[in-house]
Amino acid sequence: MKSKTADSLNYRTLFSKSNEIYDAASRRKACKTYHSLWTTKSGQYHRFSEILHFIDNMDCSILDIGCGNGRLVEFLNYNGFTGKYTGVDINSNLLKEARHDFPGQEFVNADFFKKRIPLHDYVVMSGTLNANFGQDMDFVFNFIRRMHELSRKKSVFNAITEYVNFKEKEMYYINPAALIEYTVRNLSPKFEIRHSFVPYNFTMCIHKNIKWIPF
Ligand SMILES: C[S@@+](CC[C@H](N)C(=O)[O-])C[C@H]1O[C@@H](n2cnc3c(N)ncnc32)[C@H](O)[C@@H]1O
Repeated sequence: MKSKTADSLNYRTLFSKSNEIYDAASRRKACKTYHSLWTTKSGQYHRFSEILHFIDNMDCSILDIGCGNGRLVEFLNYNGFTGKYTGVDINSNLLKEARHDFPGQEFVNADFFKKRIPLHDYVVMSGTLNANFGQDMDFVFNFIRRMHELSRKKSVFNAITEYVNFKEKEMYYINPAALIEYTVRNLSPKFEIRHSFVPYNFTMCIHKNIKWIPF
């Protein structure tokens, strides 16, 4: 079957499906970790630590796409972050929790494809492509291209790898090789991947500055 192109996929439908999934999770249990569909806080924070691996300077600006209820900013602060954090999400319930729990931080309710957003040193994302809300690989490529465009230094994100021996239909699996191919040909030849440092996941970092340091 011919796959839908990025343009033909209706993003509004995808976002409303995504909101349906997270709103249902928020109704299902009182646990805030579960509201953003993490089964354990340690799994959620393990992913954050993999993102932190690529951040070289804690006095920087970080844009968190799909920030959910804002736990990344708490993790960053525990690790000595002194810069400026901005979280963006399309889910108003999760953003309400984020604003309640981290009142000094900036959280924006927006579709980051459309919103005019200034450049940030690091543009990060954790788990936003994990739930299967109808996306396809063109959507994923557009997503990481937009992250890359908004970054001054690096874009860093994780996803569930396709190299697994069991798949659940509620989850979305990505072939890291397809992402590498897209990245090298369209975004940057300088990238890093940590595969299976979190079980069944990979974290990819795409560099903006591709100048080589002379020997
Ligand atoms: C698995 S949760 C992760 C939340 C947070 N990053 C964390 O690790 O706790 C995924 C989040 O991505 C958000 N999301 C999905 N599509 C999005 C989009 N196009 N733009 C912004 N946020 C989006 C969802 O609303 C949800 O809050």
